[in-house]
Amino acid sequence: MLAEDPRNDRNKMSTAYLQCIETSCQRRYPLDSASHRCTACGDLLDVKYDFALAEPGALRTTWQQRKTSGTAQDQSGVWRFREMLPFVPHGKSVVTLSEGRTPLLDVPQAGEWAGGVRVAIKHQGNNPTGSFKDLGMTACITQAALVGSRVTACASTGNTSASMAAYAVRAGMKAVVFVPQGKISAAKLAQALEFGAVVVEIGDNFDQAFHLLRELPPELGLYLVNSLNPFRLEGQKTIVLEILEQREWKVPDYIVVPGGNLGNVSAIGKGLAELQHAGLIEKLPRLVVVQADGANPFYQMLASGAAQIRPVAEPHTEATAIRIGDPVNWKKALRALNLTEGLCESVSDAQIFEAKAALAHDGVGCEPASAATLAGIRKLTRAGKIERGADVVAVLTGHQLKDPESGLRRRSEADLSRQRLQVEADPKKLRAAMENILQLSVS
Ligand code: F0G
Repeated sequence: MLAEDPRNDRNKMSTAYLQCIETSCQRRYPLDSASHRCTACGDLLDVKYDFALAEPGALRTTWQQRKTSGTAQDQSGVWRFREMLPFVPHGKSVVTLSEGRTPLLDVPQAGEWAGGVRVAIKHQGNNPTGSFKDLGMTACITQAALVGSRVTACASTGNTSASMAAYAVRAGMKAVVFVPQGKISAAKLAQALEFGAVVVEIGDNFDQAFHLLRELPPELGLYLVNSLNPFRLEGQKTIVLEILEQREWKVPDYIVVPGGNLGNVSAIGKGLAELQHAGLIEKLPRLVVVQADGANPFYQMLASGAAQIRPVAEPHTEATAIRIGDPVNWKKALRALNLTEGLCESVSDAQIFEAKAALAHDGVGCEPASAATLAGIRKLTRAGKIERGADVVAVLTGHQLKDPESGLRRRSEADLSRQRLQVEADPKKLRAAMENILQLSVS
């Protein structure tokens, strides 16, 4: 089901094209180019626009006014900002599930725990399929429809597959997802199956599955929606617009994201650059990307001063969403950190689960990968790289219910004996158990 572009809503069209990110190449391609890489030098591509934007005040007012509109496009936290991603020709439909519109919430206890910083979380778990991937998927599947694709495909640690399956079925396309065998959470697998995707369980990790998918011949006609596809990043960059709007356009000191394939940090960096160029913001926040110790090739590259990424052959972390050893977007991520004087940190699984527990004190749940943000903030604050009192937005990328097994596994025996009681169905025993609990909780 596709949402019609309302007739009276004249998008100021601009010229849009693809362009190689390599500064010595910068070759341009049309938007419907079959390859997601530069065919001349093999590097990544950006979607670029010759923007003809209205002045900042007028744009902000338009975006604000659309909040009260009932059209499907305006109900989307991505397409409400369509002037910033004007690749959909006027009159064409978008594939939307009303993504975005997620809360920005302060978490004072977590901020204290992280070293006395002011932390607000942007919770992307509140998206239709429970992760930030939906922002990218509405853009990417819209483009897939524009070029007439029938079958979409991705490799995934779980969230991309759930999201792609939902948007593809809505657009009437087939979905084939490649996931590492036995290495994604049951909840994410169940989502992709429920939306009718074919799930190919292959290889031991994301990198292997992704490699095998990309080796398939183009004749199969699979439309790849991994974040190598630059249209994904167009949708994902709109998170900065929502964050800034929710903050009445006050730029935070830091925006922190977990890093796997490094698409999200790249998208946010691109969004910030474009907002600055359009005069919507005057300064930039520093971008911070946090990886898990067992899957941290980007961190290692920056820490060692190497010029190239060296893939981690056997990535490991309980935060399965970011268990990636060979991130495809590292050059774009580097560009984003260079632009914003950004930082990269690496945290252990133990630190990730401590951070997840700290967020729970503010009534906020998330999947493990998302909690890497708070763990990273704490580590950087302790090292004096983030200053006390700093104004920080942490992007929580996925919903708490995406991975309940790991949370249960990680609860200590002491916590479980205090919190999880099995009581015989007998009023006296129940009363004794209750008295015991109440005594414990007042002492
Ligand atoms: N957080 C969550 C919950 C994720 O699912 C992912 C990536 C990331 C963070 C990292 O984002 O790759 O843009 O750096 N998940 C992908 C997937 C790889 O297949 O669902 P990134």
